[in-house]
Amino acid sequence: MIGKPLRHFIDLPDLGEPALSAILKRAHVLKAARRPRQDLAGKTLALIFEKPSTRTRVSFEVAMNELGGHALAITGKEMQLGQGETLGDTARVMGRFVHALMVRTFEHEHLLELTRHSSVPVINGLTNYSHPCQIMADLMTVQERFGSLKGRHVVWCGDGDNNVLNIWIQAAVIFDFPLVICCPKELSPNPAMLPGGHARVMVTHHPNQGLKDAEVVITDTWVSMHNADGERRRALLQPYQINARRMGLASKKAIFLHCLPAHRGEEVTDDVIDGPQSAVWDEAENRLHVQKAILLWCLGKV
Ligand code: CP
Ligand code: NVA
Repeated sequence: MIGKPLRHFIDLPDLGEPALSAILKRAHVLKAARRPRQDLAGKTLALIFEKPSTRTRVSFEVAMNELGGHALAITGKEMQLGQGETLGDTARVMGRFVHALMVRTFEHEHLLELTRHSSVPVINGLTNYSHPCQIMADLMTVQERFGSLKGRHVVWCGDGDNNVLNIWIQAAVIFDFPLVICCPKELSPNPAMLPGGHARVMVTHHPNQGLKDAEVVITDTWVSMHNADGERRRALLQPYQINARRMGLASKKAIFLHCLPAHRGEEVTDDVIDGPQSAVWDEAENRLHVQKAILLWCLGKV
């Protein structure tokens, strides 16, 4: 007998708007009534990290604890995976122990390969290509500040070839809001990411374009964990720094978002990240609430 398909959380379009909205709605409820719960009593989540993490690791561990379950984090290097055991065999074995897996890795294809062999739901905790848990927390933060996502003017200023931006592009299409991407030509989004026929996403190489109407201004590190060309990127991205002058071009009610970790003095200056328009600490906290809702969805409870 064929069972129900597993609920993996890999990319936003896989879920579609109704499921994503249901997850966001549950996240707001969980945040408003934060207390220890038993929804995932007896369940274990394994977190596999092949890159460093502060927020993702701590928020998933705390989320499982507060939902009555248990989490264990392990680095790829500590596992036999680091000694050549295949992704498929790792997935097959992990599925005999735990109820869900979260994976942070390099190649997106490795995550997909592991997912294909997994008998339990797999959550994408960041790949070189995408970081969907982060964007769910970002969307939750926008909903908190503005009430809704539809029609919000969002401006991304910085690295256009970026795993966080890739999912913002998906979100703009799914939730129907305009997204202006200001980036150097040399660091433009992957053409495969740009949705054909979706006038909602615009790419410009002018660092200030779109800022006048911006309600949400976002950036990310100029050098992601998988980028080997840091010096070149820093030189190209200098004109795209979010500083008080550039933030001042946006609407007074605009908020500033950054997934963190920030590189102060590079992509963002202290006066912006510590200023009144910064929503980055709420954004970071929302990782906890939204990931509780993602876990509940993966395990059939949303
Ligand atoms: N934003 C984010 O994913 O942070 P960590 O790398 O600390 O997990
Ligand atoms: N783009 C960054 C995000 C870190 C959370 C990276 O991949 O390093």
